[in-house]
Amino acid sequence: MKKNIVFLKETDSTNSFLKRNYRNYDSGTVVVAEKQLSGKGSSGRIFYSDIGGLYVSFLLKPPYTFPVNMLTPLAAVAAFRTLALFGCPSLSVKWVNDIYSFRKKICGILTESVVSQNSFDCVIVGIGINVCTPENNFNPAISDIACSLFKYSDKNAVKRVLCALIDQFFSLYESASVNEIADFYAEHSLLKGKFVTVKSGNSVVSGICKGFNSDCNIIIASQDGEKIISSGSVINFADV
Ligand code: BTN
Repeated sequence: MKKNIVFLKETDSTNSFLKRNYRNYDSGTVVVAEKQLSGKGSSGRIFYSDIGGLYVSFLLKPPYTFPVNMLTPLAAVAAFRTLALFGCPSLSVKWVNDIYSFRKKICGILTESVVSQNSFDCVIVGIGINVCTPENNFNPAISDIACSLFKYSDKNAVKRVLCALIDQFFSLYESASVNEIADFYAEHSLLKGKFVTVKSGNSVVSGICKGFNSDCNIIIASQDGEKIISSGSVINFADV
């Protein structure tokens, strides 16, 4: 697949930029912004996106070489491996779309798609990594729960992390098996064995996280039996 990188000084959101403009770009295009003015997180949350972080979206179009429902886990594995290459300590994957270092979030993933006539015109995989946001510079709303790869600002660090992430992402997209992604994802889970509360649509399920199935759906042993949930957000987790 041919790769093409589009650098933007700033935009509202690299995902939104591609949603508006995907018709003008080929599959394999990567859009990077130094700063996002309206960075988007999952469930309508804000993703704080000041200079010092990596904000990047990957555009994929048919034919897809990897199942679309597994692209968020694939991106999580790519981001995890990238952070590991830079020596980031104690990494884990927090279902469904976050990477943690120790007990703090360092990376978030937001996968969006444009659908027409029941097929995906394109899928946009957005990844945000706190590369060198000084930790005392985080927005107060997230300063207790977020962390950064490097302590000090270094313009080249963001580019080096970008190059590594692009390599990891496309090598997995082009040649990983679904099992390899699902196994890695499950093995490096933050939540396995913890008591979790997950909100999915209008329902809330609590119980012990037993692990993940081959589609990276979370398996929860709740009071009402075993529940398998494909999407949602973890509103709480604790050791048992
Ligand atoms: C989350 O934390 O829930 C997901 C965060 C995803 C952030 C990335 S940054 C690049 C892309 N553009 C966005 O607006 N969001 C994603």
